[in-house]
Amino acid sequence: MNPDSYVANHVKGLPRSGIRDFFAIVSEMPQAISLGIGEPDFVTPWKIREASIFALEKGKTSYTDNRGLLSLRKEISRYVSSFFGPEYDPSSEILVTVGVSEAIDVALRSILNPGDKVLYHEPCYVSYAPSVTLAFGEAIPVATSPENSFALDPDAFEKAWVPGCKVLMLNFPTNPTGGTADLEKLERLAKFAVEKDLIVISDEIYAELTYEGEHVSLASLPGMKERTLLLHGFSKAFAMTGFRVGFACGPDWLIDAMMKIHQYCMMCAPILSQEAAIEALANGSDDMERMKEQYFRRRNFVIRRFNEMGLSCHLPRGSFYAFPCVEETGLNEVDFCHRLLREKEVAVVPGTAFGPHGKNHVRASFSTSYEKLVEATDRMELFLEILASESKCREAS
Ligand SMILES: Cc1ncc(COP(=O)(O)O)c(C=O)c1O
Repeated sequence: MNPDSYVANHVKGLPRSGIRDFFAIVSEMPQAISLGIGEPDFVTPWKIREASIFALEKGKTSYTDNRGLLSLRKEISRYVSSFFGPEYDPSSEILVTVGVSEAIDVALRSILNPGDKVLYHEPCYVSYAPSVTLAFGEAIPVATSPENSFALDPDAFEKAWVPGCKVLMLNFPTNPTGGTADLEKLERLAKFAVEKDLIVISDEIYAELTYEGEHVSLASLPGMKERTLLLHGFSKAFAMTGFRVGFACGPDWLIDAMMKIHQYCMMCAPILSQEAAIEALANGSDDMERMKEQYFRRRNFVIRRFNEMGLSCHLPRGSFYAFPCVEETGLNEVDFCHRLLREKEVAVVPGTAFGPHGKNHVRASFSTSYEKLVEATDRMELFLEILASESKCREAS
């Protein structure tokens, strides 16, 4: 039996996630400090865990409505209107999913016919390009740049547009750059979406972790609610990655289409996670603020240290990622990460794991304790000194 002839062609061509390969190495190094991981270092707040435990005690072990518990959808509707602005009908405009990951996959599979084109920014979350490929779409990455602090750039999207574009997929604050977009840029992106008749998939999973100004949702801009699928979830700001729960809010026709796929491939999100999510939305804001204060303090420290040691780094306006440039060190981003890990046992992720436009950069997550960040940045500074002396020796010889 030749396995190669059984795996679908479009799956064979998919690259493995660069992050996972790297972390296989890190897991074998007990002394390593990891700034590589894309999840909060906080344990889910107790109140939220307790809600899940109570639900289990009460024997809540069944499937739920495919769309998610109505009580959760009502809570999502309330939270979204107070935090993001737009009102969504819990009975027809909200779908509870197994994380934002599932929502991205199901949304693209609901919308795309083979060959339809999807515009998105790059560097971006690792799943965007593969999810488009798996839905038989064509990915059109549009570069964001360090000169603009990796903000979403309406001019670049306008230039990249070609006939056949159907979807504009955005994530802000952005993983891995921490870039966002100010109101003027968002309004221009909204105008562009209307002019080109695009559906917008707006992944706002880091919305609460915005440190400069207020987060503005694309769905809240005039004329956008009807063409925007707003994705949000519990993994990041609520520190609930392992619960695997997220949601999509959008026009009823799109939520209906997504439901058709979701009901067959997933059935529903786990009930215990949905119960925890209700508690998170209803009573989780104090804990969230507490974690956000820590990220804010860590961000300011890490960015100052990177710039002091000569790794130029813009100030991320949101998320928990710094994205410094390593070009000056004379190493490319992959060699930089491998040598830093081997020689100083600090793990950061090559920027190209987030698409080719991430070249010469690395992602360093500050969802790690302040003390570890102090130690990790000290080790990085020593590493840069080694690189500098190597380069002096090369010049002298
Ligand atoms: C931008 C972005 N979207 C979606 C996800 C997936 O989130 P979830 O855990 O809700 O599936 C991540 C996780 O890192 C992310 O960074």
